[in-house]
Amino acid sequence: MTTSKPVLEISKLTKHYGGVKALTDANFRLMPGEHVAIVGDNGAGKSTFVRLITGAEQPNSGDLLLDGKKVSFKSPLDARDQGMETVYQTLALAEDLDVPANIFLGREITRINLGPLSILNHKAMREQSTSMLSTTGVKIQDMSESLRGMSGGQRQCVAIARAAGFAKKLIILDEPTAALGVAETARVEQIIQGLKARGIPLIIISHNLRQVFDLADRIYVFRQGRIICNRLTSQTNPQEIVGLITGAIDPASLAPEHAKITEETLEETV
Ligand SMILES: Nc1ncnc2c1ncn2[C@@H]1O[C@H](COP(=O)(O)OP(=O)(O)OP(=O)(O)O)[C@@H](O)[C@H]1O
Ligand SMILES: [Mg+2]
Repeated sequence: MTTSKPVLEISKLTKHYGGVKALTDANFRLMPGEHVAIVGDNGAGKSTFVRLITGAEQPNSGDLLLDGKKVSFKSPLDARDQGMETVYQTLALAEDLDVPANIFLGREITRINLGPLSILNHKAMREQSTSMLSTTGVKIQDMSESLRGMSGGQRQCVAIARAAGFAKKLIILDEPTAALGVAETARVEQIIQGLKARGIPLIIISHNLRQVFDLADRIYVFRQGRIICNRLTSQTNPQEIVGLITGAIDPASLAPEHAKITEETLEETV
């Protein structure tokens, strides 16, 4: 059994919006190199969870440990500075900027850097953006056009290329292929497999169970603002996951010894 420590450990994370209990007492763990999927019905609290752990919103309570150190991100930029890249469900791109400006937003490449007198290296940013985007397979005619005129799928690919290109410690994708066609979805899944090969841990939120079972080592099930259980992909099946999502299966009915085996197997697989 290895003694590797979680990359990310979250305990008792809670967020209520007035009377809406978006998330209550969420406990979550991501091990080095692990790819975890989050599933759950609409409104189950998945995106809230992502916004809370990446500094886009502040929780009411709860703790977050990154590499064993307690952190509290003030903003998504703060999380990015610490190697955590996120593609939000609502993308968070600048509509009026072109593709390279969006990809390098907040970390522009400069030719001369004298503080306020820095000169941007547009050529380098354009070339790197083209190569990062080519991995997604998306076709964008003119990189210098603003995002305003682009399709949902094209925008999604810009956000994914940016996150995959810069992720150092971990990457979080909230429904990354929801707006993509079949070919682009396959390319994005290849990018995710590439991150797996590079050992970059990942959290993916998806309603697509085929995708979840193809990509994830472990599945966390959210239901009505709570994380009700997690299952190793190799020890569950789509029917069981659907039952847990809808409430047809009570997580307490799953054999406790199975949960114990899951923990041990997890330790052995990392
Ligand atoms: N800013 C907000 N103010 C009030 N309520 C909110 C806010 N954001 C989310 N909620 C509520 O919190 C709950 C969880 O929402 P969340 O967006 O996390 O769901 P989700 O699991 O990501 O759903 P989906 O699969 O549709 O993306 C919902 O009931 C939602 O209406
Ligand atoms: Mg969501």
